[in-house]
Amino acid sequence: MQDFKKSCIYQIYPKSFNDSDHDGLGDIMGITKKLDYLKLLGIDYIWSTPFFTSPQNDNGYDVADYRNIDPIYGTMEQLENLIHEAQKRELGLMLDMVFNHTSTEHEWFKKAMAGDLYYKDFYIFKDGKPDGSAPTNWQSKFGGSAWEYIPVYNQYYLHLFDQTQADLNWENPNVRKELKEILKFWIEKGIKGFRFDVINLISKPEIYEDDLEGDGRRLYTDGHKIHEYLKEINQDCGLYDNGMLTVGEMSSTTLEHCLRYSNPKEKELSMCFNFHHLKVDYKNQQKWELQDCDFKNLKDILNHWQIGMEKGDGWNAVFWCNHDQPRIVSRFGDDKNYHQESAKMLATMIHFLRGTPYVFQGEEIGMTNAYFEQIDQYRDVESLNIYHILKKQGKSERDILHILNERSRDNSRTPMQWNDSINAGFTQGNPWIGTTLNYLEINVEKNLQEANSIFFYYQRLIQLRKELDCIAYGSYNPLFDEHKAVFAYQRCYKDESLIVVNNFYGEETFVEFDEVPDGYHYLIGNYEERSIEQSIILKPYETLVFVKR
Ligand code: GLC
Repeated sequence: MQDFKKSCIYQIYPKSFNDSDHDGLGDIMGITKKLDYLKLLGIDYIWSTPFFTSPQNDNGYDVADYRNIDPIYGTMEQLENLIHEAQKRELGLMLDMVFNHTSTEHEWFKKAMAGDLYYKDFYIFKDGKPDGSAPTNWQSKFGGSAWEYIPVYNQYYLHLFDQTQADLNWENPNVRKELKEILKFWIEKGIKGFRFDVINLISKPEIYEDDLEGDGRRLYTDGHKIHEYLKEINQDCGLYDNGMLTVGEMSSTTLEHCLRYSNPKEKELSMCFNFHHLKVDYKNQQKWELQDCDFKNLKDILNHWQIGMEKGDGWNAVFWCNHDQPRIVSRFGDDKNYHQESAKMLATMIHFLRGTPYVFQGEEIGMTNAYFEQIDQYRDVESLNIYHILKKQGKSERDILHILNERSRDNSRTPMQWNDSINAGFTQGNPWIGTTLNYLEINVEKNLQEANSIFFYYQRLIQLRKELDCIAYGSYNPLFDEHKAVFAYQRCYKDESLIVVNNFYGEETFVEFDEVPDGYHYLIGNYEERSIEQSIILKPYETLVFVKR
């Protein structure tokens, strides 16, 4: 496989990718049918979100059996065929391992509930407070208390997410043993990497107490045994030594921890996702309170992580989009007036950073937010929970729908837009979630017909990473740090260097170098080709990359 620093990873949300049997849900055969498309894009790995047996309360992040395929997605034979077909095309398949919690439908939890104490210790059951209320005041990430009361035990179990997602007790060595066996099972099947779901939440504190400052996260995030656990998994499953690509999803983490997670000497993970740069439009750090992108903050955060990870030899997963985030072109771009321009600028911004870039399905054609108009169009458990919570708080229907329009995870979960036929070519059945109406203009088929399309722009970015060592290995140096509209940086490696300049706004602006940078040539951009000058006037959302070699 490719060196992961030179690789690009494509994320698939299988439920919304391609429906091969027309039941309205995407499936594994649907993915296999699109491998040539993915190969054409030039990616190296496919990360699919979970397709294991699951009641689907959180679309598969509530796993009931880690070794079997949910029938809505297909069969084990079909998955083996996907792995095989992917390998033929030199594409590695990565699985999404949800090891912080299981579904309450998992047999471990069912046994725990039936009185089997061996399995009860797989989960985190605690006594309530003397007055009978929950053991701590921690809040579930999906709203409400993180504890659920079980009368037969007169105890509560912990669920940091939905109440049907019970947190596993990693302190119990039998839990870790089971999870390692699961990884080995999949490695034997030819899986090339793993994405570990909210992995920095697995190590809970020794003492369970109220969080007097917040929702509890500071007490269990990047917990005291997290590094120990990751090293153990890595070593016992031979992840690092077998060249497995591993990425951890890190919730509310710190640079210091991510350096330890991803520094190769530590042998924990290949790289980490963090989300700090995607909270710059949260008012008061609250997801459900809107504000415009705080551009200065965005720059500061990305610069902090870029520079810090380089200094400590850590490695970032770099990205704008995933199945939990609104579409970036609607969020930090302008999907109405500068759709192509802003989509390409945002892509450039990410793909030239130091880190491994991730492309979420549909991002490569500039798919936008869903723009749903009614609550019954939403499917996501988090969105529906928050709808009721905000309703109770007295917010109007209109305001809530406006917030969901901007923030709901369903914005990224609408069907992949393949062509301009019914349901965007995703299914001939009834899609499980509505299609975004702009599929007549924004679709794969159209992108493949236009040399100048967003798709071919992404293809070029992915190719460039393979051609220019500087993109993968270069140092990172911010430029025009104080500029109010431009995000620019330089990358240097041996005798190669790059200057990347991005206008983040829909108005012209300019940058001025102290003198004309010597020896740089145009590499890529989203308007016409031009040469570097001392002063550059940038068009709306213009991106320009210059190279010296
Ligand atoms: C991660 C997943 C998200 C899921 C949650 C609980 O954040 O990306 O989709 O709901 O973990 O598993």
